[in-house]
Amino acid sequence: MADFTDISSAVDSAAANARRVSRREFIKRVIASGAVASSASFMAGGLAGCTPRRAAVAGSVERLVSLNINGQLRRVDVLPQETLAMTLRYKLGLTGTKLSRDRAECGACTVMIDGTTVYSCSTLTHSVRARKVVTVEGLRGPNGELHPVQQAFVEELSPQCGFCTPGQVVAAVALLQKNPKPTREEARHAMSGNLCRCGAYDNYLNGIMRACGNHAEISHGV
Ligand code: FES
Repeated sequence: MADFTDISSAVDSAAANARRVSRREFIKRVIASGAVASSASFMAGGLAGCTPRRAAVAGSVERLVSLNINGQLRRVDVLPQETLAMTLRYKLGLTGTKLSRDRAECGACTVMIDGTTVYSCSTLTHSVRARKVVTVEGLRGPNGELHPVQQAFVEELSPQCGFCTPGQVVAAVALLQKNPKPTREEARHAMSGNLCRCGAYDNYLNGIMRACGNHAEISHGV
């Protein structure tokens, strides 16, 4: 058994190592160790299936969950209070979902759940188990081609800085799935939950009008 001298030198050695690694490297190692911990937990869960399952602790939440993201089943370790935006960006690497206000105000984090748009910054990940989540990454075609809405946004030069664009794309796709040929006013109303700090609203509406073939309501007027 190690004495206090051993522990002290181990701590000193770890501190020296920590000083030698860059901040980026340190973060990468922390993420990697989290993934290993998740895998170990998953393995333990799998093996537990061969023996009588332990009763769940009352009031506890199972952290290792299966999520349907863009048609794929993803296993991920989720904290009880974790938001979907955090899980998508920092656990699953789906950084197309943006975080801006992080309080259900701007729509940059918009995703679809069972075909309906939600602010993922204000949705608990545990609440979307057994539901279908679609992010902007899930809208591309089988060969990586742009979704028609994305193509129309490109052709209409809709984005300015582009930060809000993924949320605008998801919201527009959800609109056209429910209403394939909206009027410009209907689209304006449907997109009202997606703010654009560049004020490119008319450009996005032009993109939606182009995507749905409503060319009569494309407006490039001054
Ligand atoms: S294009 Fe810049 S925030 Fe919308």
